[in-house]
Amino acid sequence: MPIKPFIPEKLVPAAQSLDIYSAWRGLELTIPDILSRFGVATGSCIEFGVEFGYSTVAFSNYFDKVVGIDLFVGDINTDHKGDHFRETRARLSAFPNIELHKTSYQDWIASDDSYYDLAHVDIVHTYRDTFKCGLWAAQHSTCTLFHDTESFVDVRNAAIDAARCAGKEVFNYPQHYGLGIVVG
Ligand SMILES: C[S@@+](CC[C@H](N)C(=O)[O-])C[C@H]1O[C@@H](n2cnc3c(N)ncnc32)[C@H](O)[C@@H]1O
Repeated sequence: MPIKPFIPEKLVPAAQSLDIYSAWRGLELTIPDILSRFGVATGSCIEFGVEFGYSTVAFSNYFDKVVGIDLFVGDINTDHKGDHFRETRARLSAFPNIELHKTSYQDWIASDDSYYDLAHVDIVHTYRDTFKCGLWAAQHSTCTLFHDTESFVDVRNAAIDAARCAGKEVFNYPQHYGLGIVVG
């Protein structure tokens, strides 16, 4: 299945962002163009993989509500290992439209049947986990984003396969480690 390039027509700085390191930094510039290009409404967003909250805060600029799902302990791909939920919750308490849940994506998708305007998948970068979470996300959102499509071939392949199984198209923005965009 071909992956089409996504070329933003505009890059728009976000009003609010966290002053912390994140591989996601720079992708916030593309959010307004993604929303307008693919006709994504701005009511609700769900994110799988919050870590310290960089991308979560980026999305909070544009959505009425952002639900963040993470174990908050890191994984085999992250530098940080160990529980940082309390610190992260305190840091993000300045953003009242962000709701954090300390749980696995596996437990969350087993009980949530909601539909979201946008979903973001940025969990452990295995094919199996990214595909399982990403397929659920593609079936429960207008637009699903996958981070690290350039740095992890398993993420790229999982995004392509999730799009195929959901009957959707997939685009790729190659900057900042790659952002897959799955839309119907
Ligand atoms: C690459 S980081 C997310 C980075 C973040 N999006 C940012 O803007 O910097 C991946 C996160 O996925 C979380 N994670 C890994 N496996 C998970 C799982 N099964 N369920 C929920 N979260 C998971 C880790 O705890 C880690 O915080």
